[in-house]
Amino acid sequence: MCGIVATVGHSPAIPVLLDGLRRLEYRGYDSAGLAVARDGGLTVYRRVGRVRELAAQVPEDLSGSVGIAHTRWATHGEVTEANAHPHLDGVGRIAVVHNGIIENMGALKARLQADGVVFRSETDSEVLAHLISRYFEGSDPAVPADDPVAAVRAALRVVRGTWGIAVLFADHPDLIVAARNGSPLVVGLGDGQSYLASDPHALVAYTRRVVFLDDGEVACIDANGVQTFHVDGGVVDNNVETLEDVWGDEGRGAYPHLMLKEIHEQPEALDRCLSGRVVPENGTAKLGGLDLEPRDLARLTRVGLLGCGTAYFACQVGAQLVEQLARVPAKAEIASEFRHRNPVVDPDALFLAVSQSGETADTLGAVREIQVKGGTVMGVVNVVGSSIARACGRGVYIHSGPEMAVASTKAFSNMVAAMAVFTLMLARQRTLSAHEGRQYVEELRAVPDLVRRYLADPGPIDTLVKWVTDARMVLFLGRGLSAPVAAEGALKLMEVAYVPCIAYPAGEMKHGPIALLERQSPVIVVAPRDELRDKTLSNLQECKARGARVALIHTEGDEIADLADLSIPVPATSPLFSPLLTVLPLQLLAYRTGLALGRDIDRPRNLAKSVTVE
Ligand code: G6P
Repeated sequence: MCGIVATVGHSPAIPVLLDGLRRLEYRGYDSAGLAVARDGGLTVYRRVGRVRELAAQVPEDLSGSVGIAHTRWATHGEVTEANAHPHLDGVGRIAVVHNGIIENMGALKARLQADGVVFRSETDSEVLAHLISRYFEGSDPAVPADDPVAAVRAALRVVRGTWGIAVLFADHPDLIVAARNGSPLVVGLGDGQSYLASDPHALVAYTRRVVFLDDGEVACIDANGVQTFHVDGGVVDNNVETLEDVWGDEGRGAYPHLMLKEIHEQPEALDRCLSGRVVPENGTAKLGGLDLEPRDLARLTRVGLLGCGTAYFACQVGAQLVEQLARVPAKAEIASEFRHRNPVVDPDALFLAVSQSGETADTLGAVREIQVKGGTVMGVVNVVGSSIARACGRGVYIHSGPEMAVASTKAFSNMVAAMAVFTLMLARQRTLSAHEGRQYVEELRAVPDLVRRYLADPGPIDTLVKWVTDARMVLFLGRGLSAPVAAEGALKLMEVAYVPCIAYPAGEMKHGPIALLERQSPVIVVAPRDELRDKTLSNLQECKARGARVALIHTEGDEIADLADLSIPVPATSPLFSPLLTVLPLQLLAYRTGLALGRDIDRPRNLAKSVTVE
């Protein structure tokens, strides 16, 4: 959510800033801007829209080798040029880019306005520029004037909230001050040039030597490197790390959109997630990153799974797997709810924080809440070295590879697969014989090929696209493991095509949503061959009896195909792993509907890939 990139040194800043913004655009993309120190002042460009629109305004050969840049996902204030970052102080000598939220902005703004400060934007971030400026100019005798680091530190001591910031001073055109509290920042160390970004992904083209900033730190970055301080005083010893497993910018390849490419990458991604982790001989699995011995597994009293959006639906699948196969009580919960309800944290429970980006603020907040309460929490994360992965210390990388389209597809599958592997490990320690375990391992290992086979011939998705493009509302139904699949299908169609959708556990449909059904209302029922299938079919009939038309996602060869107005078969697998197949037509439906409606598929309106605010 919002991206920051900055550079300081001796080489031209503009190419680095624009290139970095393009790489970070998936985090937020409603407006973009940059500031460069040159000719004794600051030159600022800001534009509503994509980075390419900003780039069209900025002369490529603009001089200046120190600059900061930002791509925005609006929180405070509409999408306007005035609200785009960087924000300047009153005299245009200090520029700030900010990720996060200043919670006490109201009080601070009122105080600054009472002192005559004029605000030019509706953002919370602008408060920072004015505050820093006041301390920089010597308004507080306790803070040395004309000292960039002291001014930033003093300002951050009076704000509350979350931030990743980069600050540029016209009077110190050889440095950038950065600070982190809850919004990630990483410093890149080059040769005579240093870098800063909210995501290491933006740096790898320039350097792999990095320093991750921690919460409560302020960094002074110049051409020669970085010096880090605690916001309250004292120098921090920097830990220089080498980035190894960072993804480059892979582009769309032969596909017209990233989303379609990522849907089609699922077989390989699943293979990566499973390989080396399932142990066919013993019918079990091994997840080294969890560092849990069978003895530890035996002591587990319950499993809690936390995530947001698609990750939450994957958690719902995971919780059912754990309970059904390992017979350990398990519960999935939306991370933003968990952290704010003062949860009871059982010290013998294991929590899994599930996140593609590893940066989702609410999921990270839940991790911290568990840790404060003495619980054990591990990550199920895609991005290596991300904030959640680092905060948890232990966990499972899902190995989807880079997922850049905003709508999550292959990460969902790999979250489910990683949790299936975890379940196998836990179930073998508790309930499963070696023989049963081996059967599950075999079925799981066959899934990537089944996914490949389905994607090669996905069935009559385009007919379904026609049904839903003009629909006032689409109802998605499923039971058991298919209920979260239905919910994920509805989320995808909403996100990518902006079609209003409702997802319900099929049995609950008659308690409300049935009132919405009219003649020809599209209903999508997910009913693979499992023990709940027949019950779901009763709900299908209830829909048909009200004139709705029903598309049924079912197991290949199942005779229930005839009951639907449209049948979409998927290859057969163990009922437990069916979400890995039944979700595929729903991903394609969202993609193709978005395409038919002319939507911006990889960058849907109002959304962002990585939501680093609460
Ligand atoms: C955003 C994205 C969703 C994603 C959710 C959780 O809302 O638009 O696609 O599912 O964040 O993201 P995470 O990175 O934690 O999986």
